[in-house]
Amino acid sequence: MQVENKVIDEARQGEQMEMKSANGSKKLFLESYGCQMNFSDSEIVASILVNEGYSTTKNPEEADVIFVNTCAIRENAEARVRQRLQDFKKVKQKNPGTVVGVLGCMAERLKSQFLEQEKLLDLVVGPDAYRDLPNLLEQTGSGQKAVNVILSKEETYADITPVRLDSNGVSAFISITRGCDNMCSFCVVPFTRGRERSRDPESIVNEAQELFNKGYREVTLLGQNVDSYLWAGGGLKKEILTEEQRNVAVNFARLLEKVALVSPLLRVRFSTSHPKDMTNEVLEVMAKYENICKYIHLPVQSGNSRVLDLMNRGYSREWYLERMSAIRRIIPDCGISTDIITGFCSETEEEHQETLSLMQAIQYDFAYMFMYSERPKTLAERKYADDIPEEVKKRRLQEVVSLQHTHSAYRTKAAVGKTYKVLIEGVSKKSSEQFCGRNSQNTTVVFDKENYQIGEYVDVEVLSCTSTTLIGKARGRSV
Ligand code: 5AD
Ligand code: SF4
Repeated sequence: MQVENKVIDEARQGEQMEMKSANGSKKLFLESYGCQMNFSDSEIVASILVNEGYSTTKNPEEADVIFVNTCAIRENAEARVRQRLQDFKKVKQKNPGTVVGVLGCMAERLKSQFLEQEKLLDLVVGPDAYRDLPNLLEQTGSGQKAVNVILSKEETYADITPVRLDSNGVSAFISITRGCDNMCSFCVVPFTRGRERSRDPESIVNEAQELFNKGYREVTLLGQNVDSYLWAGGGLKKEILTEEQRNVAVNFARLLEKVALVSPLLRVRFSTSHPKDMTNEVLEVMAKYENICKYIHLPVQSGNSRVLDLMNRGYSREWYLERMSAIRRIIPDCGISTDIITGFCSETEEEHQETLSLMQAIQYDFAYMFMYSERPKTLAERKYADDIPEEVKKRRLQEVVSLQHTHSAYRTKAAVGKTYKVLIEGVSKKSSEQFCGRNSQNTTVVFDKENYQIGEYVDVEVLSCTSTTLIGKARGRSV
């Protein structure tokens, strides 16, 4: 299947993840929600359970263990999981021996409360406690309920080789940091994923090399804020580094370069960038290496400086626009996407207009757009009133969505007539006669299969487009 480089990929919500070759006798049903990081965590969970003699199944009725890896980012993400648990309740009524567990961000947010609210649950496990899963499963074996929601300052699962679930064999995710220290006032992530920590670069490069050796041709480096990646020999916290230690530390630009050097045939992507931390050094490394994809997901959230300040984003409208001009200057052909929230606490009509005018100025290739959803414990929930009526949030969202639609269409149209290097990722969803892949700028390209193979690079001339997809003809293998 195709794995897209998205923050919250609607198409993947509730995906049942399966591995190709495992022959353990116990069966695990694993369903995932949320961001790429969560899907990547599911691969760590699978790896731990494979060592315990499990294989995966897509049929919950034949599972010994049902795990739901959950998301807490917005209220509707949680509602979706609650709804889904009703289905597993029925499975459990039929097969009372089935262990049902929730993992991930919603587990971390609700802790043991979750067991009281949803009686069917046997197990609640937060994102830093997956190594404890074998013990916790043993506990449930003797009829007890099990909870581990301890967050860690060190855990990066660096030594666990993820089992690639539902892999197309071409692209894979590698997590480089865990947690988040930014404390955006709307965001629950610092509470569900804990403090930010960076993973040893050697283990990252080794993982990329192993993937390449197995035939993978693209890796996406994952972190809540990849630009704040910093490795200074383990354990050392950023805040206490001396000037000298900082100078020799591996920052994100240096890490990106190390991964790019694994092979010119290995594409490197990353997500998510943060406007306050994205440096020219990173942009220059991107420009220097052809195999680092020319695509940046740079969430803006709002186009108004007062709202950005309330959001505690650490930058102003002017700062963001300056970072955008740096991108355009250093990487002229860079694809750009963003995240936008409408109707944040006290946002006025004029401030909303500034979000629209910022979008006009940038003309994003793609955007993920949301209505503000108040989350318990966040700074905004404690400090500001969620005072924009639902209809207003919704109307503002529609305005943002429809403007983005015109920009996406403009961007794809501008690609018609050009030829792009495309990595073939799989068969097109719409036609078994066509392949799909992406260009460096992250736009999906479909074209006739001819004699090409999955995992190859081809030069595709774009002949037409829909609002989000380029349609073309392969002009030969790319060199
Ligand atoms: N309400 C709405 N959207 C949110 N996001 C994060 N928290 C919230 C919230 N409380 C959005 C942001 C972020 C993306 C992953 O989800 O735009 O960048
Ligand atoms: Fe990912 Fe955030 Fe959802 Fe957790 S809450 S799964 S970090 S999007």
